[in-house]
Amino acid sequence: MNNTVIKVEGLGKAYRIGLKEQKSETLFAALTKAIKKPLTNFKNITNLRKFGNSNDEDIFWANRNISFDVKEGEVLGIIGKNGAGKSTLLKLLSRITQPTEGRIEITGKVASLLEVGTGFNPDLSGKENIYLNGTILGLTKKEIDQRYNEIVDFSGIEQFMETPVKRYSSGMKVRLAFAVAAHLDPEILIIDEVLAVGDAEFQSKCLGKMQSVASKEGRTVLFVSHDMAAIKNLCTRALLLQKGTIVKEGNPNDVVDYYLRNANVLNASEKTIDTSLRSGSGKFTLQGIEFLNRKGEEVSVLESGMDLFIKVFYKCQEKPVNPVINIIVRNSLQQEIMNLLTRIAYYGVMKLRDEGFVTCHIPKLPLMQGRYSIDITMKYDFEITDEIENVLSIDVEKGDFYGTGKIVSSMRDGLLVYHTWHVD
Ligand SMILES: Nc1ncnc2c1ncn2[C@@H]1O[C@H](COP(=O)(O)OP(=O)(O)OP(=O)(O)O)[C@@H](O)[C@H]1O
Ligand SMILES: [Mg+2]
Repeated sequence: MNNTVIKVEGLGKAYRIGLKEQKSETLFAALTKAIKKPLTNFKNITNLRKFGNSNDEDIFWANRNISFDVKEGEVLGIIGKNGAGKSTLLKLLSRITQPTEGRIEITGKVASLLEVGTGFNPDLSGKENIYLNGTILGLTKKEIDQRYNEIVDFSGIEQFMETPVKRYSSGMKVRLAFAVAAHLDPEILIIDEVLAVGDAEFQSKCLGKMQSVASKEGRTVLFVSHDMAAIKNLCTRALLLQKGTIVKEGNPNDVVDYYLRNANVLNASEKTIDTSLRSGSGKFTLQGIEFLNRKGEEVSVLESGMDLFIKVFYKCQEKPVNPVINIIVRNSLQQEIMNLLTRIAYYGVMKLRDEGFVTCHIPKLPLMQGRYSIDITMKYDFEITDEIENVLSIDVEKGDFYGTGKIVSSMRDGLLVYHTWHVD
């Protein structure tokens, strides 16, 4: 039970960067982007500078200095922000890409479920692909025959077994891929976030299957997810990746907690207010923003449905009466999806000191998983005193918004509406 089945030492993967972006981007587009996205741009520049010092100029390390062991029967959850290097790590472990440095030792047959459809031959039917995958995993025809019905059953798409996989929808591909990976008795099952594509019922079926693969059959599972509840419930251990490196490892509850809370370590550059797009008279200004959970602890990554307090620090040349503070939340398409306004939502006349903070309370954060950017406008005495576009960005992870133990995961970047259903 306690054999080490995966051993990773000093693993690194470098990509050449810039090529794709530079080719497709005109100077104008690059400039607009620099203006619209000062933070990202700043980060790009720092990254470039950092790697520019080494001999290879356009190199970006998607994974670096990664070392860990996985024991037989463990369910290892891998979490981290978008771009942290999670998928890269799974691709390296699945031997889909080669490491730039370091070593990987794996004992046992690996089945991996990475991007939708990888591992399938699009021209072959569902049935043929089941046999192809089984053969790749070293099973005999007879062994696959024995599991065939179970696989088809689990996938729930038996009527499409003779159809070429290229005609499948992405949801159907995921169904088949998961069924194949989980039922062909791999010793190690590697699963990237693909489950997000399926519907809620299929997702919970997959999560249940993963759990039984690990606990009943004693197989090892590596699982990347943005679903913090699934990580906490399913995994025996978790890794947190940040900028390609492991920054925390251990008990899933602790790692998730650390991830959601650790503002300074994870988010230092984003916490600093970017003022390059700032305008206004300066009479009443923003000094800082903090996000706090119900316990009053600062968080840098938010969870759908959480009890959130946004602390807005301000300074004013006098003691303002009825000032306006407006927090605008935009999705990744820069569409305004939430507007938090003192002018409308504060009852009565707001009277402030000349320096301090106001707190905006959102009892159930209605944002779905995704990255959002925030603009702030402050007004006083009929004039705009401070206006900052894209002052910071926030990441939201999936959470139990409805308090039902179920999670919306098929959509990103949208709003959750609180509602209930009743049956007569
Ligand atoms: N083939 C590639 N060429 C260049 N850069 C790449 C390539 N694949 C990944 N990257 C970069 O490596 C970094 C890590 O990407 P990766 O897909 O591993 O992140 P992730 O943690 O899986 O993110 P997400 O949560 O969005 O899935 C990103 O900055 C990405 O742009
Ligand atoms: Mg990924």
